[in-house]
Amino acid sequence: MTTMPSVSGAAQTEEHSSRHASDDISGPLPGCTVQATDLCKTFGKRTLWRGLGFDLHAGDMVALVGPSGCGKSTLLNCLGLLERPSSGTLLIDGLDVASMNGRAKRLFRKNRLGYLFQDYALIDNANVMDNLSVAWGGLPRKRRVAAAHEALEYVGLPGRDTDVVYRMSGGEQQRVALARLMVKRPGLVLADEPTGALDKANAHMVVDGLRHMASQGATVVIATHSDAVAQACDHTIDLSANQAQARDESGEEL
Ligand SMILES: Nc1ncnc2c1ncn2[C@@H]1O[C@H](COP(=O)(O)OP(=O)(O)OP(=O)(O)O)[C@@H](O)[C@H]1O
Ligand SMILES: [Mg+2]
Repeated sequence: MTTMPSVSGAAQTEEHSSRHASDDISGPLPGCTVQATDLCKTFGKRTLWRGLGFDLHAGDMVALVGPSGCGKSTLLNCLGLLERPSSGTLLIDGLDVASMNGRAKRLFRKNRLGYLFQDYALIDNANVMDNLSVAWGGLPRKRRVAAAHEALEYVGLPGRDTDVVYRMSGGEQQRVALARLMVKRPGLVLADEPTGALDKANAHMVVDGLRHMASQGATVVIATHSDAVAQACDHTIDLSANQAQARDESGEEL
């Protein structure tokens, strides 16, 4: 078990709200640590997973696998502070998420968290640069456009700044979403079936981009049904091992 740093809530919030002046898309990324112990998630009478424990470290790229409906997206939402585990302990950067207030959660999501979705989640009727500008955050003004161009270059879309998103192909849109992630520079990247709608070449580029971010220090979690994506990761969390027989409130199996 990893020893986690002891960080007070206030200090943690400050840390989450700041960004280093030297940031650009190729510098080191301060990855998040995640420590999950005996996590359980229920919806009503239904238990998705229980007895779930794992440690994630800066630089890890981890696959989250299991059959449809087993709770992969729900676990990503717990890591993204959009859902709460029903029981167990979840520490992110050493801080118990159960103790975080709404503001601390918002700051974490704004400054430390990056999401990549199967359906890209871009602003469809805005152009590429406008979509990237959403991720600029605390980056100094003079670095913003340079970072965006560097990211677009990386994903193979140089010079596409003014293209309107809805006219781009699915693969191109996911690469814009990847570039947006690179500009944001999150410590924790949560990718929910990011290659689910892509051809092999685009899927490869997305996995490469996520690996690039992990190699810079980001902690990357990828929910996937793809064996190729899972094999490209360092570790696998298989939720089917933590699935529980549905039980009623008295503990009887349903
Ligand atoms: N807010 C909610 N209230 C009730 N049930 C929910 C809620 N969110 C998710 N579920 C249920 O929890 C189960 C797990 O959903 P989830 O989306 O996490 O699965 P998944 O492993 O990501 O599946 P897939 O591989 O199809 O994306 C589903 O049966 C879903 O209907
Ligand atoms: Mg899902």
